[in-house]
Amino acid sequence: MKTPFVMAISFLLLAFAAKPLVGSRLHDINGDDVRADQEYYVLESGNGRGLTTLRHRGDSCPLDVAQVTSAPRTGKPLKFKAYNSSRFIYEAVDLNVKFSIVDSCSDSLVWKVDNYDEERGKWFITTGGNEGDPGAKTLLNWFKFERIGTSDPATYRIVYCPSVCASCLFLCQNVGVSFEDSARRLVLKADYEPVFPVVIFPAEGAAKCES
Ligand SMILES: *[C@@H]1O[C@H](CO)[C@@H](O)[C@H](O)[C@H]1NC(C)=O
Repeated sequence: MKTPFVMAISFLLLAFAAKPLVGSRLHDINGDDVRADQEYYVLESGNGRGLTTLRHRGDSCPLDVAQVTSAPRTGKPLKFKAYNSSRFIYEAVDLNVKFSIVDSCSDSLVWKVDNYDEERGKWFITTGGNEGDPGAKTLLNWFKFERIGTSDPATYRIVYCPSVCASCLFLCQNVGVSFEDSARRLVLKADYEPVFPVVIFPAEGAAKCES
């Protein structure tokens, strides 16, 4: 007798499960395909505050990835590079995310998940990652963008859930913001915590100020 109810629940779960559309390209705020050869700002949906580099919590390097709190609101431009170097960037596919502007640290500007910060009890996102070379060695360097909802402009959450190593064990987590050491720093967040929704803004359009 319970079966129909269980089935109905399963259908509901299926319908609402946030499953990324495999094969969909990432779209910028104008609805254009996101490309590997262009620079973008990643901005929080709603308030438009972008991402930048910031002094590490403890040591000076590598730099933390953080959200801007002052002008320019856009933060620093970024580039995406897929694990297979595809020309267009796809949803739910492993990506290197890399700032384009050189900073005070000599490390690379590729995002990575930093070593666990025991003092603060969090995994912070920093620069200093390795680009390319998908596999177990580079597990901490891959991020995915997954679409939230279907309305325009395309809005995404950033996810740490690498597929580049089938035999590796790790917890899939969302990338979000945490207020630590007087800054809004990017960290891995538990599933039950609010999602950090972002839109992708072409950096070139911003520079040219086309209207
Ligand atoms: C790269 O991977 C994506 C998704 O897995 C796929 O859609 C695309 O065709 C691939 N591109 C190349 C150049 O291999």
